[in-house]
Amino acid sequence: MYSLQFLKMQNFSVKKTLNSAQKLALPCFARTFERTKKLKSMNYLNLDKTKITKTAQELNILLADYHVYYQKLRNFHWNVVGKNFFDLHIKFEEMYDDAKLKIDEIAERILTLRFQPVSNFSDYLEKSNLKESSSTIDDVQMVKTLLNDHGTIIQQMRKVIEKADAAGDEGTIDLIGSYIADLEKTSWMLDAWSMKTNDTHPTA
Ligand SMILES: [Fe+2]
Repeated sequence: MYSLQFLKMQNFSVKKTLNSAQKLALPCFARTFERTKKLKSMNYLNLDKTKITKTAQELNILLADYHVYYQKLRNFHWNVVGKNFFDLHIKFEEMYDDAKLKIDEIAERILTLRFQPVSNFSDYLEKSNLKESSSTIDDVQMVKTLLNDHGTIIQQMRKVIEKADAAGDEGTIDLIGSYIADLEKTSWMLDAWSMKTNDTHPTA
């Protein structure tokens, strides 16, 4: 039930001198106000708020994964040693530059959906599917670790896409779908780097 009390709560200055006809019109006015308020707070993408909440939650986990992954790449870029130093030092830099761009895009997608991106490292470590790595593992272990992490991140991306699909959120599907292809391609390169010269792939 709408009342003068309701309007006052909404910061309306209601004149005490309203005549009876105006007072009768108040419930109608209050309902119009309520509708307008809902429209203003409604998601401008016309997506179901409950459904995109689930997408944003999965995006925040992906954002956490990307931060741990990014720092791991820096760790490996700095600490790789041995005969493969020049190749991997450069490759890891290329990979963390790419991760840095994606981190920003994921956070801004969360904001576009009108949610808050997680922004502290303590929260990233708590939310992420990934674990930090030692700085003293050898080059082969570094590549293997990154390949495993790619698998985990791709799984998280699929969760995002599943939720986005349920919400009809094509923008998120498009963005994260392209990330999957990027990460799969980089995985192929790391896997090829790990193979022996005589190793072959099965024919399709
Ligand atoms: Fe560097």
